[in-house]
Amino acid sequence: MYSEIEINNWLKKMWLDYCKMNPQSQAIEELLVKKGEIIINDHIALRTFNHPSMNIKVFQKLIEKLGYKEKEHYEFVEKKLHAVHFEHSNEILPKIFVSELLVEKCSGLIQETVTNLAQSVTPEFTSNIDFMMKGRPWEMSYQVYEKIAKESEYASWLSAHGFRPNHFTVAIHFLKTFNDIRKINSLLQENNFKLNQSGGVIKGSISEFLEQSSTMAGEIPVQFNEGVYNIPGCYYEFAQRYKMPNGKLFHGFVAKSADKIFESTNKN
Ligand code: NI
Repeated sequence: MYSEIEINNWLKKMWLDYCKMNPQSQAIEELLVKKGEIIINDHIALRTFNHPSMNIKVFQKLIEKLGYKEKEHYEFVEKKLHAVHFEHSNEILPKIFVSELLVEKCSGLIQETVTNLAQSVTPEFTSNIDFMMKGRPWEMSYQVYEKIAKESEYASWLSAHGFRPNHFTVAIHFLKTFNDIRKINSLLQENNFKLNQSGGVIKGSISEFLEQSSTMAGEIPVQFNEGVYNIPGCYYEFAQRYKMPNGKLFHGFVAKSADKIFESTNKN
């Protein structure tokens, strides 16, 4: 079992990797810190394929070693995704949201591609918790990336970037001054950060006990077999949780909102 210090070190390493993929997160963090805020991370999101070499179960074994427990499952029928969220008994530690693409529901092209990529995902590669920020262990062709993207943006993102935190999330409800999603969204827009508009800027509602918004992923250069191409990287998310009638903060996710948040890595 890992100590909380080790978990925090792991998250810190992930944050640094993530900031390389998404420099705007660092800029937003600095902006909030300048306003006197201390940022608590609500959750990190990880993406994978449901191939046996790298499915959620492979993640789960390691995540449980961190002291996290499996909570709820979510289905995204149209995007062909399944997801699980994990929680630590220490509420200040971020939740971990892991989603997987249901490859058998996809086209022959995606199935073949994933079978190929999976050859590079050895048990040794996934034996250490750090694999979740190791990027892709496989080679990738830009031509295949583009073809896959037409069918599944999720599959294309994952095949290009591999294993990395897809987003970190500011827990708005723990902020001092900007403890309202509307204030955060205005601040971001005033500072020219582009927000995901799919399904409206704010996803969810107070009656669902969770409101979320996110930036759109900026493009970053990625090495493919044919050369370097600019493609969407990662985004930053903002979540405001509300107390349920029992007085406890809601810690789950709203599938309908998460469905729209996934679109933050779509090409503009
Ligand atoms: Ni999220």
